[in-house]
Amino acid sequence: MIIEDNNNKKEKSTQKKEKNPDLSASSLALEEGYEKNIRPLNFDDYIGQSSIKETLKISIEACKKRNSRLDHLLFYGPPGLGKTTLASIIAIELGSSIRITSAPSIERPRDIIGILMQLKEGDVLFIDEIHRLNKIAEEILYPAMEDFALDLTTGKSQSAKSMRIPIPKFTLIGATTKAGALSGPLRDRFGIIHRLEFYTVEELAKIVQRTAGILEFEIDKEGALEIAKRSRCTPRIANRLVRRSADWAIVKGNGVITKEIACCALNALDIDELGLDAVDRMLLKIMINSFEGGPVGIETLAVALGEDIRTIEDVYEPFLIQKGFIARTPRGRKVTKLAYEHLGFRIDSSQISLF
Ligand code: ADE
Repeated sequence: MIIEDNNNKKEKSTQKKEKNPDLSASSLALEEGYEKNIRPLNFDDYIGQSSIKETLKISIEACKKRNSRLDHLLFYGPPGLGKTTLASIIAIELGSSIRITSAPSIERPRDIIGILMQLKEGDVLFIDEIHRLNKIAEEILYPAMEDFALDLTTGKSQSAKSMRIPIPKFTLIGATTKAGALSGPLRDRFGIIHRLEFYTVEELAKIVQRTAGILEFEIDKEGALEIAKRSRCTPRIANRLVRRSADWAIVKGNGVITKEIACCALNALDIDELGLDAVDRMLLKIMINSFEGGPVGIETLAVALGEDIRTIEDVYEPFLIQKGFIARTPRGRKVTKLAYEHLGFRIDSSQISLF
């Protein structure tokens, strides 16, 4: 059984609205529903992250054989790579229920206490964006993770009493885009830590074909490959582009997602042949035109681009670094020669020393 936190949904919606200002509230709900419908429910259907899958399968089998609980687990990596999906699959494989929430929706001590007290033996608790958990909630979580107990204090000053309440043994799965932002004590309480990697074009093409199949759309191999190439190595984006291409297939084609149809859809969305969108290109151009290619600090870049630092760090930068268009140096971010070439800037001999 999957229980999703309502507060959490609210949080997710506002977050997405920030990143996709063109999405209305109702289309956001549709996007969330869409993601859930196409989510794989077992390891066989989950494409990519193969070494993580194999180690998880062993850990889960060992738990079942020992009749014990799965160790607390931390997933980290850029957004959209399938952290929530993996957590749901783990719960299904364990035969457990999963409670899904996110750290920004856990504001008061009673929020986290309420969640922990409602858990049942063997349940999985998934906390997204766990690096954003506040200090009080984090401290409540320590004995809960370690001793399966809540240390509560009642009353004030001299009449204050502390008591320890046992809670059922559960597995916490934390997800974060920033493992480095987690406090040491919290990180140390996770027995299993995995970094999710960007997907290859071949893996994304398989995901695109699977999704088109679920949506009952015909797609040819070249169409799937074109979408995969332009998906920023990220399944969430690939799945969104399948839908946009399907719209074009209905309106402009004969219902089949071909390479030509996919190209029309993606060009209309201003996504280039390597998957860079208008904001990616703007970011690189600002670095080149206003900061001579860098190094430039993230705060300065955020002001110049009019985006918040977190979005640049979590969404844009990891992909541009992965593609080799941005390099991080101790003095800030620098644009690489590859980026100049991709954007069609001419590099003369006097600039070679820049790289
Ligand atoms: N949809 C989103 N992520 C996926 C994955 N890794 N495998 C299959 N379908 C997915």
